[in-house]
Amino acid sequence: FLKPTPGGPARPAGPGVVALGDCMVCHTAPDGPAYAGGLGLKTPFGIIYSTNITPDPETGIGRWTSAAFKRALREGVARDGHLLYPAFPYIHYTRMSDDDIELAYAWLMSRPPVRVKQPDNDLAFPLNFRPLLAFWNALYLRPGDGAAPGTGQVERGRYLVDTLGHCASCHSGMNLLGGERSPAFEGGTVDGWHAPALTRLAQGSAPWTRAELADYLQGGLSLTHGAAKGPMRPVTERLAAVPRADVEAMAAYLVTIQQ
Ligand code: HEC
Ligand code: HEC
Repeated sequence: FLKPTPGGPARPAGPGVVALGDCMVCHTAPDGPAYAGGLGLKTPFGIIYSTNITPDPETGIGRWTSAAFKRALREGVARDGHLLYPAFPYIHYTRMSDDDIELAYAWLMSRPPVRVKQPDNDLAFPLNFRPLLAFWNALYLRPGDGAAPGTGQVERGRYLVDTLGHCASCHSGMNLLGGERSPAFEGGTVDGWHAPALTRLAQGSAPWTRAELADYLQGGLSLTHGAAKGPMRPVTERLAAVPRADVEAMAAYLVTIQQ
């Protein structure tokens, strides 16, 4: 799916954007149809179910315009205007380029529609009261402007790690309000797994090299550090499908954030 851009490097088309954004991992229930939602995400505040993002008009996004889709990714607002929970990492997707959002939309709209209604969320009051999310957004949402990322390798890597890959949502840890801790990438806990700091990969008895990072991100295996386990495994499975240049860009960026 490499789409050559005249005068520029090959850039992944729809499937690549959706793989880099990990959309399928959250929007697919165990053994369920792809993108039809229903995966229960455990948050400190209760269980939030991912939605159906297949083009079914009743239970999915079949009636969503590309403008409504863009607003969901950029502002965390659903088509009917309700605010979405930040278990959906829109605080990262907000900086996706307009082009990438269009590619993701076109790709998802070309998937087979699946009619399935997802369970209601299991949240206690006041967290089940969505308007409160406006306060959360005021604290944590910094809307992006749709600009394309820079073309240099490190800039591309930063975009893939910070925006599409939303790596910080696991690797930064959460504060009491469910916001990501800063500084970013100091390590966190997800589903009982430790997501190690990404700022100290060059330390310890077996420092990661750039090549090892690229291999691990794409193949889920590092000869010196072993296989990716737990919630990291599906991330690497999705990255198996992206152009090699993209995981190399991520590795190049990760090298620049080492302490
Ligand atoms: C970490 C898990 C996660 C990832 C990754 C993720 N989503 Fe979601 N998404 C959710 C959850 C959970 C919701 C429902 C939030 C709610 O109900 O408030 C959601 C909601 C949405 C909605 C709103 C749908 C509706 O009917 O209201 C859209 C559109 C969407 N996601 C698209 C995407 C796209 C495109 C990607 C990849 C670029 C993606 N999501 C990646 C968890 C995720
Ligand atoms: C859903 C949560 C989640 C997401 C998203 C995620 N990671 Fe991870 N990551 C983990 C966990 C958990 C581990 C530990 C896995 C293990 O113990 O095998 C890990 C391990 C790693 C490691 C190995 C670190 C070490 O010291 O062993 C690297 C490197 C890494 N992740 C990079 C990334 C990058 C880059 C992204 C974004 C593209 C990313 N991760 C997205 C949860 C996540």
